[in-house]
Amino acid sequence: MPHPPTPDQAFPPAQRDAVYRAIFERRDMRHFAGGTVAPELMRRLLTAAHHAPSVGFMQPWRFLRVASPALRRGLHALVEQERVQTARALGEREEAFMRLKVEGLIDAAEVWVVALADGRERHVFGRRTLPQMDLASTACAIQNLWLAARAEGLGVGWVSLFDPVAVACLLGMPDGAEPIALLCIGPVHGFYEEPMLQQQRWASRCALDDVLFEDAWGQPLDPRDSMGGVDRAVRTRLRPAGARSAPDGGSAG
Ligand SMILES: Cc1cc2nc3c(=O)[nH]c(=O)nc-3n(C[C@H](O)[C@H](O)[C@H](O)COP(=O)(O)O)c2cc1C
Repeated sequence: MPHPPTPDQAFPPAQRDAVYRAIFERRDMRHFAGGTVAPELMRRLLTAAHHAPSVGFMQPWRFLRVASPALRRGLHALVEQERVQTARALGEREEAFMRLKVEGLIDAAEVWVVALADGRERHVFGRRTLPQMDLASTACAIQNLWLAARAEGLGVGWVSLFDPVAVACLLGMPDGAEPIALLCIGPVHGFYEEPMLQQQRWASRCALDDVLFEDAWGQPLDPRDSMGGVDRAVRTRLRPAGARSAPDGGSAG
């Protein structure tokens, strides 16, 4: 079947493939190889984050480097407390959850806390009815950093198992500022081939077509427009030789 014409502004094919490769091979990492991240490389990652889109261009993100080993241990202790509370809240999945590795705070080369800035109530553009768009914007920044890190060969793990008030106190944040992520960043021995929670059979990626609707909630896309085949084709083309095939279906557990 002939390919449709490529839009004039498209990247050359190899560069396009590199973008998709970073997307598909990015993983949330919990195993790190120690080491260090050169300051200029760390700055490239932060610059990528800082070029994320944000509602009303409010740039609500703040990044705080945890340089002190004692502070890092303090954060780790807070996460451990919350991990236990989370396990209890999970009921029958408590034991399975406790077996999962959910952070790499001690072994990662770098730990950065990402927070929403104080004074966000002043920003109304795009947030009058959806104030949480500041959080959405900051998540975009983290994703930029995550993808750039993958391209640079560094792992990133997003840890959100913590009491935000306790973390804010520990780090001297002003009223109104809110930590949303502890990022573990650094060299890894290898990237998981698929989400670790999928490898551990905690959950699996649901089928793309299950999350696509047309005209009304729950109404599937017209099969003539279905993008499922495109998704599969892109992934197949980019999969490294010898890699196991990525599951295309399944359901969250
Ligand atoms: C907002 C957010 C918070 C997360 N918090 C945690 C966490 O506290 N611990 C953890 O192990 N993974 C955490 N993750 C990572 C997810 O478990 C992971 O993205 C998911 O299992 C899919 O795997 P992948 O990122 O490798 O594709 C978080 C991810 C997001 C987007």
